[in-house]
Amino acid sequence: MELVVLESAENIEFKEGIDLLDCRDIKPCTGCAACWVKTPGKCIIKDKAQFFSQKIKNYDTITIVSKLCFGSVSYPVKRVLDRCVGYLDTFMIKDEDDIRHGKRYNHTFHLNVVFYGNGTEQEKNEASQFVKAFCKNYFVNSYSIEFVSAFNTAFILLGGKKIDPNLEETRDILIPKIGEVEKPKNSIAIINASPRGKKSASEFYSNKLIEICNKLSNNEFKIDKYYWGTTRPINPDEIMKFTMYDSIIICFGIYVDGPPSHIIQNFQRIDAYLYQYMKNHTYGKLGSNIRDTKIYVLANNGLIHGNQNIHSINFIKNFANKNKFTWVQGIGIGGGPLYANPKKDIIGDKNAEGVYKKLEEFSINILNYSEKISYNDIYTDAHINLDDYLNIINNIWKFALDKNKINK
Ligand SMILES: Cc1cc2nc3c(=O)[nH]c(=O)nc-3n(C[C@H](O)[C@H](O)[C@H](O)COP(=O)(O)O)c2cc1C
Repeated sequence: MELVVLESAENIEFKEGIDLLDCRDIKPCTGCAACWVKTPGKCIIKDKAQFFSQKIKNYDTITIVSKLCFGSVSYPVKRVLDRCVGYLDTFMIKDEDDIRHGKRYNHTFHLNVVFYGNGTEQEKNEASQFVKAFCKNYFVNSYSIEFVSAFNTAFILLGGKKIDPNLEETRDILIPKIGEVEKPKNSIAIINASPRGKKSASEFYSNKLIEICNKLSNNEFKIDKYYWGTTRPINPDEIMKFTMYDSIIICFGIYVDGPPSHIIQNFQRIDAYLYQYMKNHTYGKLGSNIRDTKIYVLANNGLIHGNQNIHSINFIKNFANKNKFTWVQGIGIGGGPLYANPKKDIIGDKNAEGVYKKLEEFSINILNYSEKISYNDIYTDAHINLDDYLNIINNIWKFALDKNKINK
């Protein structure tokens, strides 16, 4: 049995024997982990994706058709991927020099991914790496990846009957009024973009970053903090406001090897919005404001190695390069939740020393940016033995399941 996942299945028909999943009206994952510790195997958000992680086991082939977005899938497709993590078991297993979630079901499938739309070689390469990482995560036994220029081509390739697809990403984007003023110097916007907001590991790391930047600069920088939640996407005024900062640091934890879906949505919107703006205005001051806005990423992840954040960092890098922002650097922190304890400072914690040092290096690069330097991304791991980390994490899962009286 085959499933085809489409951003929109409006007016689309396929030959018999193929199930369609239309990604419209699916809500974003909020990172509550209920599908691992409260209702194992199913999501608690009540929409058509609620039982999806259980349904995957009915299919031997899954085909995903997605717009290529900065080296990733588009946000409607990513919503499905993020909402399906309950397909994986709650407990972690050891896998070579890493850990990952085990299998909940004795099941595997073949995955086809068809990306449509224009993209650079770098974006295509990144998208392939992302799919590969996803396959490892989801125990996919074989996969194929194709890039085609238009959705219609992808649709015909799959044997579709009618061609009338529509993904009106820009439908509700309005033309703004501002964007023609000089921006103030030494201004930094730090965005906690985690779906978990103030309860997130990103809250800890973004606050730590502000603290270190203030200390190293003697409070000479104006640092503003923002949140990107899952309840509403970014609006045009907010987009224009961000072009008024010298530096923007986007902080979040990775979901299924990439940014959570609402972050992809916001970047798709910014991209579509700036395109629309340029069609109606001269580039002028906004153009130089964009070029002068430096973009950074602070990503953290649950598994032990920080380089798992590479796809999240590359996603934002590809967005920045496409839209002519100045991409500078990303930092990826492995074992992110381990050190993100606001009650226990990482200064003085021997295990966290390495992470703190890297955060300091990252802060120095934000404060002393020079266009003459080419910055490499920074990756730092959970500084703890693999077996110990596996034990710690599995004890946390066990504790949460026990608390919810779930016997597993
Ligand atoms: C839906 C979901 C998917 C996740 N996928 C991954 C993953 O692919 N790799 C990983 O290392 N951690 C993964 N994690 C763990 C998060 O990256 C980790 O908990 C991180 O600290 C979350 O950051 P935040 O609290 O700032 O949102 C996932 C968590 C959730 C809820």
